[in-house]
Amino acid sequence: MPLPQSFLDELIFRSDIVEIVSRYVSLKRSGSGYVGLCPFHNEKTPSFHVSADKQFYHCFGCGEGGNVISFIMKEENLPFVEAVRFLADLAGMTMPEEDGGADKARQHRDRLLHLNREAARFYHEQLMSEEGRGALQYLLDRGLSRKTITSFGLGYAHPDWDRLTKAMLEKGYTKYELEDAWLAKKNRSGGLYDAFRDRVMFPIIDIRGNVIAFGGRITHGDGPKYLNSGDTPVFSKSRNLFAMNFAKKTKGKRLILAEGYMDVIALHQAGFDCAVASLGTALTPDQCRLMGRYAEEVVISYDSDAAGQRAAQRAIDLLNSAGLQVKVLKIPGAKDPDEYIKSNGREAFALLLDNPQSDSEYRLAVIKAKYDLDVDAQKIQYLKEAAEYIATVASPVEREIVSHMVAQETGIASTVMAAEVKRAFTARSRREKKKSDAAALQPVRAVQPKEQGLRYKNPRSAVCEEKLLAIVLEDRALLERAEELLTPEDFSSDFLGNIYRKALDAARTGDVSVAALMAGLEENEARHLTGVLSGRVVSQDERRELEDYIRVIKEEKARSSMDGDRRLLEILNQKRERKG
Ligand code: GTP
Ligand code: MN
Repeated sequence: MPLPQSFLDELIFRSDIVEIVSRYVSLKRSGSGYVGLCPFHNEKTPSFHVSADKQFYHCFGCGEGGNVISFIMKEENLPFVEAVRFLADLAGMTMPEEDGGADKARQHRDRLLHLNREAARFYHEQLMSEEGRGALQYLLDRGLSRKTITSFGLGYAHPDWDRLTKAMLEKGYTKYELEDAWLAKKNRSGGLYDAFRDRVMFPIIDIRGNVIAFGGRITHGDGPKYLNSGDTPVFSKSRNLFAMNFAKKTKGKRLILAEGYMDVIALHQAGFDCAVASLGTALTPDQCRLMGRYAEEVVISYDSDAAGQRAAQRAIDLLNSAGLQVKVLKIPGAKDPDEYIKSNGREAFALLLDNPQSDSEYRLAVIKAKYDLDVDAQKIQYLKEAAEYIATVASPVEREIVSHMVAQETGIASTVMAAEVKRAFTARSRREKKKSDAAALQPVRAVQPKEQGLRYKNPRSAVCEEKLLAIVLEDRALLERAEELLTPEDFSSDFLGNIYRKALDAARTGDVSVAALMAGLEENEARHLTGVLSGRVVSQDERRELEDYIRVIKEEKARSSMDGDRRLLEILNQKRERKG
């Protein structure tokens, strides 16, 4: 059930963004607002702005922005409703339509977290007991020290059907809680049995230190190698990373992203305290954002098989869009980082880490893998494709180096390779020029929002719409002036037009609060809007400026409907010609 807007308005009104943000970020006064170091990306000079009057934040460094609710969602890693609940608690407000349900839901989550902690303790005790000897030996044989086993809280789930279930029921947890925490499952007759049996257990711990889920590895016999908890009220697979609780404390600005639990644990044991893994699924944008909060660079260290390399390729783009620099580690002669460290030692891995392939070397390796260089025809294809790729590399020096490398590995003369790259480069420049000529006819393309899913169909008008919003959201009198001249339907962008409509509605019934307007927006929309509003340069004559924008918006509207008419005419004419 969606939360009523009136409740959200009240919540935003009662939750002062400066006060809330100050709990996480040390803020300094600056002009009409506050600045601090952005909590969402790493920086040394503050570019994170909080506006006290407009009640929103915006980072000029990474582009994050939003109201107090989106701040809590990102900072506390909570879904929307939970973030609202979090703020409502602070503000002493009761969540609507739940009458006491809010408390109940929270208490339930607390119980599940306690249960998970008890379960982790239980599994760990089992591992250390006589019955866990085999499992413990398995871990020791895989090279883990006792210290590592303890610090990761590893455990053992006994093969019995209901060891854990019985122990936890005895401690007073309910069947429902066990099932909801994904620790037990119901059989056909309604009885409970342990979800994890005869497995080595890896607790998954969130950045606040809560045990939120488990992974369990088989050590012998049949069955899936790993079993992982499904999503529960306290665990979302796509928003968490294994070992982030440790990695967030690393000194550097770099994280190592591996595929498996064992890789991560081996890395930590070898002293690489910045290693994390996604939880047995493809990397998600939320996980990238989480990494972005603690690091500037991610070194992908996936398995060296084809699947791992494909996954790495996908991860590069996702991480880049979260503003992270990415390097891909190639692990020579071993299946994964765990194996590599075991056979070559930590120093060797440290060397790999400091000489990871650059993006271009990596992309070339991917191209090369498609061809058999012993076959001449394929070698030529490889050279062609490599040259095409090298032509896209921006730096001339890098182009030189990479093409030299390709020449060397294929045994052709450097000059021949250089000529091939030059040809590809010229062809490409020609194509680019054509494109940029076309772009020149559409001069304001640069204003397209960076955010995915937001595209302006008329950028010339959209710029003015953005600027107009920045003015009218600041000044009630100017909003009223705009209302006389401009309707939301005059906007070329539905997104911006909607914000304008909401502002007009809000003005009719009370105050116009930018933060409240944001409550109904998608995350990317809110982020774009805070950027628009923060970028505003106050001018001498705002009224005049406003009217200029309105003029352009109206011109563009007229032009676009004329365009429509003209196109219609053309189509009619063509039809007529064909007939005639
Ligand atoms: P080891 O064989 O113990 O070294 O495992 P690993 O940590 O190297 O993991 P691997 O590369 O085999 O797999 C990577 C990750 O994928 C694991 O950590 C699990 O999270 C997940 N995974 C692997 N096998 C399975 C499986 O059979 N089922 C599920 N659900 N997940 C799996
Ligand atoms: Mn492995």
